[in-house]
Amino acid sequence: MTDHRPAADAVRARIAAADASLLPPRVGLILGSGLGAFAERLTGSGAAIEIPFAEVPDLPPPTVGGHRGRLVAGRLDPEGPSVLCLDGRLHWYEGHEVGLVILPARLMAALGVETLIVTNAAGGVNRDFRPGDLMLIDDHINLSGVSPLRGPNDDDLGPRFPDMTEAYDAGLRARAVEVAKGVGLPLRRGVYTVLGGPAYETPAEIRAVATLGGDAVGMSTVFEVTAAVHAGVKVLGLSLITNAAAGLGEDKLSHQEVLEVAAAARDRTVDYLADLVRALGS
Ligand code: HPA
Repeated sequence: MTDHRPAADAVRARIAAADASLLPPRVGLILGSGLGAFAERLTGSGAAIEIPFAEVPDLPPPTVGGHRGRLVAGRLDPEGPSVLCLDGRLHWYEGHEVGLVILPARLMAALGVETLIVTNAAGGVNRDFRPGDLMLIDDHINLSGVSPLRGPNDDDLGPRFPDMTEAYDAGLRARAVEVAKGVGLPLRRGVYTVLGGPAYETPAEIRAVATLGGDAVGMSTVFEVTAAVHAGVKVLGLSLITNAAAGLGEDKLSHQEVLEVAAAARDRTVDYLADLVRALGS
């Protein structure tokens, strides 16, 4: 388990020195593949504060295309809620201990973030889903075999046995649906399933996921969500469906395709994220 406190102290100090009014951040975001563009919109109170991972203790550089490796603090609008984004998620499949993968989530909790929005790119298991769809995560299934909370519990952070009945906050989900309706965005809903990667799943694994009740499949998110729930942070999750999961479509799976579909859906997805952050901060 990597202690998140040195990283949290460094980020807090950087933000305090540049614009203390951004502390505590009201909304935190962990941006999935290709969604780093959201951070570019945080110019509401002048230039956003950009903190490269290299300046944060214990944060390793990202190794995956589509992840920049920086934290960005700012606002969408002068009067809007303060926002802290992670542009460059850490993945378990990169070889990081799962205790390091959750460092950004714990860092955000330590800085006082009350609402965390987690986004990812995912494969569609539900046959009604199409590439480019956005899915609100109602719940998740962790088939990775690991928990970020394994090991001694830090009672200052949260309970030994956190309840996961409503890991994705029902009130936030209702707001997300409302905001989507307001802008005419067809929002899908479903269960996100994590296997761990980095190989894409086999068709047999996808059939198993479908049987178990999964609607989307990916390699991230549930670790950070589990850590955030443990720390008492309310979570909202969104999956950008970039492809039909293995065996359900015509084509073989590739990261290139994932990035291309994410790029094509980027503006619409980032617009929606911005609307959502505005709604949550009002
Ligand atoms: N499987 C796992 N992760 C993914 C996929 C997928 O099909 N698409 C995007 N991320």
